[in-house]
Amino acid sequence: MDRRLKREPEIASDALPFTTQDCMEPQKIIDLFEVSFKHILQSPDLQDYIQLVKGDLYNRDYLTAFNSDDKRFAYASRWTPARSLAYASLFASLEPIKELMEDPESIKNVLCVGGGASSELVALGAVFCRLKEYNSGSPSTLNIKLIDIADWSKVANNLTTYIKENWVYRPEKFNSEFICDDVLTASPESLNLESLNLVTLLFTTNELFAEKRKETIKLFQQFSSRCQKGCLLLIAESAGSYSHITIGERKFPIQFLIDTILVGKPNENNGAWEIVNQSESTWYRINEKEVDYPMKLENMRFFYRLYCKK
Ligand SMILES: C[S@@+](CC[C@H](N)C(=O)[O-])C[C@H]1O[C@@H](n2cnc3c(N)ncnc32)[C@H](O)[C@@H]1O
Repeated sequence: MDRRLKREPEIASDALPFTTQDCMEPQKIIDLFEVSFKHILQSPDLQDYIQLVKGDLYNRDYLTAFNSDDKRFAYASRWTPARSLAYASLFASLEPIKELMEDPESIKNVLCVGGGASSELVALGAVFCRLKEYNSGSPSTLNIKLIDIADWSKVANNLTTYIKENWVYRPEKFNSEFICDDVLTASPESLNLESLNLVTLLFTTNELFAEKRKETIKLFQQFSSRCQKGCLLLIAESAGSYSHITIGERKFPIQFLIDTILVGKPNENNGAWEIVNQSESTWYRINEKEVDYPMKLENMRFFYRLYCKK
């Protein structure tokens, strides 16, 4: 039996460490962005692009928000660095995810749904590469698939190249593939759900439910029927931000619906997944004395649940 399955669900403490010994130092992560995004950080038009993206996001017009490389690079240079720091700390602090990346022998496959802006990519790289630093002969490999409805391929390729050239012991050990598609209509074959060791939906579930509720439920059901035993599934959203759905006369938070699909009805636990770690509200705070970046790095407060396939 997978030893992760024996672990009781626990409520994590309500603050993540600024950094841990199991991921790259925050300034190293920030350096990656300063070098990879130099062209946009030095552009006199950067603030204009950021304002354009902000306006579109305010109007919930996600397709227009991310409809050009300039806008995508501007968004990523403004918001991806702080999220990468937070996710690196989260991944390194969640024991099952850390163990997955620490494994010195095998190939691990990760799918990041809505991961085009690449915070998850950099955070995974920051943990994987740190854990392999003293084990340069390790045959292990990390393959990351990012699927996003907007075309973030240049951003993802740009950051992957930096990681391959500067962080990892052998470039072929850290790979990313960007799929520009709607995850709700993509074929399960293209996602290769059976091969996955970890699926992440970070700050994306609310959007999917807002777009197409039935298809989003179907996607979670696909995870249940196709993912292998031991596969991990991580969901995070802004704390307290979950939208509600109405079933019959009553309103439920979407999280309740997701838990029912994945874990089963309350007290029955007859679903395909179990919760291995969770927090209703956890903080990640930037230690401004230790990082230097030309734009504000925001603190984050979020809800998360880590599930494991039974
Ligand atoms: C709020 S952003 C979160 C970005 C990233 N996961 C993070 O935490 O930094 C949501 C992302 O989901 C993507 N997205 C929205 N609907 C999608 C869909 N149907 N299929 C794939 N990606 C989608 C958006 O393009 C956007 O990049």
